[in-house]
Amino acid sequence: MEYSRQIVEKVLDEFAKKRQNAVNTAQERKEEMDRICPQLKEIDKALSMTGMKIFSSSLEGKDGLEKRIKALRKESRELLDDKKRILKLMGKPENYLDVNYSCEKCGDTGYIGINMCTCMKKALAKCAYESSGLGEALAEQGFDNFDLSFYSDEKKDGGISPRDNMTYVLSEAKDYVKKFGKPGNSQNLLFVGSTGLGKTHLSTAIAKGVIDKGYDVVYDTMQNIMHIFELSTFPKDESASQDAERYTQSSLLIIDDLGTELKSRFSQNVLYNILNTRIMSGKPMIINTNLDDAKEFQKQYDDRINSRLIGNFRTFKFYGDDIRLKKARKNARKAQK
Ligand SMILES: Nc1ncnc2c1ncn2[C@@H]1O[C@H](COP(=O)(O)OP(=O)(O)O)[C@@H](O)[C@H]1O
Ligand SMILES: [Mg+2]
Ligand SMILES: [Zn+2]
Repeated sequence: MEYSRQIVEKVLDEFAKKRQNAVNTAQERKEEMDRICPQLKEIDKALSMTGMKIFSSSLEGKDGLEKRIKALRKESRELLDDKKRILKLMGKPENYLDVNYSCEKCGDTGYIGINMCTCMKKALAKCAYESSGLGEALAEQGFDNFDLSFYSDEKKDGGISPRDNMTYVLSEAKDYVKKFGKPGNSQNLLFVGSTGLGKTHLSTAIAKGVIDKGYDVVYDTMQNIMHIFELSTFPKDESASQDAERYTQSSLLIIDDLGTELKSRFSQNVLYNILNTRIMSGKPMIINTNLDDAKEFQKQYDDRINSRLIGNFRTFKFYGDDIRLKKARKNARKAQK
């Protein structure tokens, strides 16, 4: 698990509250019932006595022990039955006075022995989804609905078809998730291509896969990253500074729409610092951009940035026709029918 400290703390806190609530609710119910029906209180007292009696009976020697314990067990069963009967008479379910945890497997502790319970794994992933910046997209854009038939299978100029190209990119993307976190696998990916070809969709699918494996992912557009850094710099804003820190600290950073930000010395410095810090600490990035030739990169960025983008990233070209348009046309046709 490499979720950020904030995520882990938030979930641990949630679990502690859940546990406490369950205990409090049971306590309140007990007090309520004891008030209405003092007999229940007597039964509870008697029940706790039978526990003691069994214990002291075992100290009295082996002679007839089995019999004595059997009798005590019977006594305790009868008391429990009485309790159920009373609850029923009062129109309550039999387990009304039990502590009602939301996860019965772990009693809302998040652990079964030393193993993390699935309920806590799920809560951590959910919290990581929420803090990734991807929101709804995580539910809508995954590998499972990444459709290769949107890419033409016509070969252009004797090369490979957009579909063959994307088949390769998709399999590399899945492989990336599979290998994420293994030593020596902190690769950076650069997705290059014009609008509507699935760059954001595919990087979201990777993000989901990586979060599900237990890593902290931060997604943001280049414009927004600049905005956060501006807020965190002049004048210093505490919450923006924390957000800015996550761009360099997260296990995976996805920068969307590189090249759409306003070109300035400030933006160049911010980008350079992110790239450099993450490369130095071996923390991977995925960058999506519409800039699609060397000239455009040179126009937008200085050499120290370009040399890092070239030297430290695996580039994947996206080509084909705008899928957003294709989908819109398809939906329009459906609506006409
Ligand atoms: N291969 C695909 N299969 C299904 N939907 C896709 C695919 N590629 C893109 N889309 C959809 O088309 C729209 C545009 O894709 P997007 O990933 O935003 O493109 P880009 O980031 O390259 O501009 C989104 O709604 C996305 O879900
Ligand atoms: Mg996009
Ligand atoms: Zn659990």
